[in-house]
Amino acid sequence: MSSKIQFGTKIGLIAATVGSAIGLGNVWRFPAETQANGGAAFLLLYIVCVLCLGIPVMLAEFSLGRGGRSDAVGVFRKLSPGKPWWLVGAVAVLASYLIACYYMVVAGWTLEYLWHSVAGGLYEAVDTASGESLRSAFDVKMDHYVCDDVNPLIFTVLMIVVNAGVLLGGVQKGIEKLSNILMPLLFVILLAICYVTLTLPDAGEGVRYFLEPDFGRITPRVVVNALGQAFFSLSLGMGILITYASYYPADTNLTRTSVIVSLLSLLVAVLMGLIIFPAVKSFGLDNESLEGATLVFVTLPEVFAQLPWPRLWSSLFFLLLFVAALTSTVSITEVTVAMLEDRLGMRRRTAVLTAMAPLLLLSSLCSLSFGSLSSAKLFGLTIFNLLDTFTTDILLPVGSIAVCIYMGWFAPKGLLADELSNHGSRRSRWTAPVLFIIRYLAPVMIGLILVFNYM
Ligand code: PHE
Repeated sequence: MSSKIQFGTKIGLIAATVGSAIGLGNVWRFPAETQANGGAAFLLLYIVCVLCLGIPVMLAEFSLGRGGRSDAVGVFRKLSPGKPWWLVGAVAVLASYLIACYYMVVAGWTLEYLWHSVAGGLYEAVDTASGESLRSAFDVKMDHYVCDDVNPLIFTVLMIVVNAGVLLGGVQKGIEKLSNILMPLLFVILLAICYVTLTLPDAGEGVRYFLEPDFGRITPRVVVNALGQAFFSLSLGMGILITYASYYPADTNLTRTSVIVSLLSLLVAVLMGLIIFPAVKSFGLDNESLEGATLVFVTLPEVFAQLPWPRLWSSLFFLLLFVAALTSTVSITEVTVAMLEDRLGMRRRTAVLTAMAPLLLLSSLCSLSFGSLSSAKLFGLTIFNLLDTFTTDILLPVGSIAVCIYMGWFAPKGLLADELSNHGSRRSRWTAPVLFIIRYLAPVMIGLILVFNYM
């Protein structure tokens, strides 16, 4: 048993956790969801969900991880020996692994687009185009970069290799060091691009759309989507926060950490909204241009192409996406690596290689599902979409409800109070409200996600 490596510094542990929380969920999924669910009202609900439900469930995962000081399965074995609660951890590990399979592919695209922005290929032969033809030029590029068999596959594999490299470095010299460098970089780039888009002509219209809520647009479906988005973007239900918290020193203030991580994750989502909506409205692009992958891989290159120095802004933007994706993929694969180390007693190197080998195969299949495997479908879904749907619609909500029920009702008495107060060495006013939320409110609300997904 690795008893137990810890993050070296307070800043480092926050950077690593924030790095996990800030991912493609914030920078890409959030603006697309905001658009699909009616703009500012969705933002408001998302903020409420993060603050009222996300933070308490995050605290439950932190307490489990640091209280049990083991991997996502091991904490349940340690805290409730001889009981089947470890299955809750197993669901989280399974969810994280399956998410990693398709997320690596999208992460690979960000690296691919970064490369083609820097090398110039993305803007080749589009200089003279405008309007519709500009758009179709980037559509064609996306076909080539995403739906080809070979190109995206190379970048997916590269992404997995980079992840393996970081994870081989270990918790302090790999994950923590990477996050300490990349997180400040991410914020600098984000603010720079935000400045540019906010100073575009008519940017105000986009800002208004994003920030002025129309409450008439709130429906139960919008609430459920906001909650799903909040949980995904805080990395809940994936075993990540349990695993990372098992590396937190005993004196880490869990409540403060959860608030900082959640607020920074929120901030990034809001800044992304302030980049995307003004840019899109300023160039009069239509709403369809915000859907799914089109948003970042067609619409934004279209915007950059119309600015001075398109390659500079494009390179910075895809670097931002790549950084967000990398710190998230590292955290999600660490869940399996930690489990292999702690459960099977593997050395880190063996654990990393064992985790990565099947990932190479499964991610490749996901990547090919945009190319020659696009007609291989189960339940009408491609391999990529199947994994996405199965994890986000089923495994994540089920896992999160189970964590809440365990922490709320079955965990050793006083675990939450002990962890939030660092075993009595600091006062915690939050134990009672957090316990109330994870006992009653959170399971019911997350249950609604499950119900709505079947409707
Ligand atoms: N918060 C992360 C994101 O927004 C969630 C995540 C972490 C997803 C790790 C996948 C891998 O992307």
